[in-house]
Amino acid sequence: MSVTILGIESSCDDTSAAVIRDGLLLSNVIASQSVHEEYGGVVPELASRAHQQNIVPVVKAALDRAGIDKKELSAIAFTRGPGLLGSLLVGTSFAKGMSLGLRIPLVDVNHLHGHVLSHFIRKEVSDTVPEYPFLTLLISGGNSQLILVRGYNDMEILGATIDDAAGEAFDKCAKVMGLPYPGGPHIDRLAKEGDPSRFKFAKPRIPALDYSFSGLKTSFLYTLRDAVKLDPDFVEKNRADLAASLQRTIIEILIDKLDKAVKQTGVKSVAIGGGVSANSGVRQAVADYCDRNGLKAFIPERAFTTDNAAMVAIAGYFKYLDRQFCGYDEVPFARVTV
Ligand code: KG4
Repeated sequence: MSVTILGIESSCDDTSAAVIRDGLLLSNVIASQSVHEEYGGVVPELASRAHQQNIVPVVKAALDRAGIDKKELSAIAFTRGPGLLGSLLVGTSFAKGMSLGLRIPLVDVNHLHGHVLSHFIRKEVSDTVPEYPFLTLLISGGNSQLILVRGYNDMEILGATIDDAAGEAFDKCAKVMGLPYPGGPHIDRLAKEGDPSRFKFAKPRIPALDYSFSGLKTSFLYTLRDAVKLDPDFVEKNRADLAASLQRTIIEILIDKLDKAVKQTGVKSVAIGGGVSANSGVRQAVADYCDRNGLKAFIPERAFTTDNAAMVAIAGYFKYLDRQFCGYDEVPFARVTV
């Protein structure tokens, strides 16, 4: 009998629902929230209100696009955390209500597991998926982690950021340059026209496999502050070169630890995930690194780099097959864990 999972994601500012049947993606609907743009970051209270408005139409659209009736669902999978508690509560409560109403199991999903497992989302039976064990570089606005993945439910964090995440480095430096939030995609676009070797910024000297991006951020800020004193139009005149140099530095920091982790673990495959894995420079650098080292690279489709319910549905699908269901008394969690 077919296994059909509805995934629900509401951990931050994207309301998403997706349907996966027997491991194949049937639909993935994402409603992003533009309400935060004018505040330069996500406002938690506004995010949860927008989720409340979006959740019913988004779930309906996901079922319609999949061409299925809700009675055909085997289980409801939802993101339990980490994330914004108010946002998570909307998806969690909706998932519980739907599971109770349909009398089908409820499956809770760790958002970070979802990002890692997004490489198992297949559109065709012939799509290639990673073989265990593999390494994941998970880079987003909230996390920068190197994770050894031994199984869908067996993951070990080998290293993580001790301060800012890679996405924060992109966003905060972009803000200093006067670019809108989130700045990552703007830096990516500008970097394509700039000289990546024009400016040098500080790189961290952190032992083991941990990351740090706060020093780079300060170094970027001071470079601009000093240069603007001499030429008020400095940023305007050098936007592309600043973006390209910043992006190159972030990539070098990411690849340096990735290389150490590959050597330490001896894995044969490397995957990337999270919002920053949409960055064209990062994607190219990881693909080139894997080419040079005889490794298989798994670079996600851009639609699966940001928050989406397809990754929740696939993670839920694996748990469903193992009968790992969740009770109705389980509550969302905000903190980062794997
Ligand atoms: O995973 P995500 O959508 O949200 C969470 O952090 O949970 O990641 C968002 C982050 C932001 O910092 C954003 O600037 C960054 O991903 N980002 C990018 C690009 N697209 C999104 N950073 C660099 N280049 C991009 N193309």
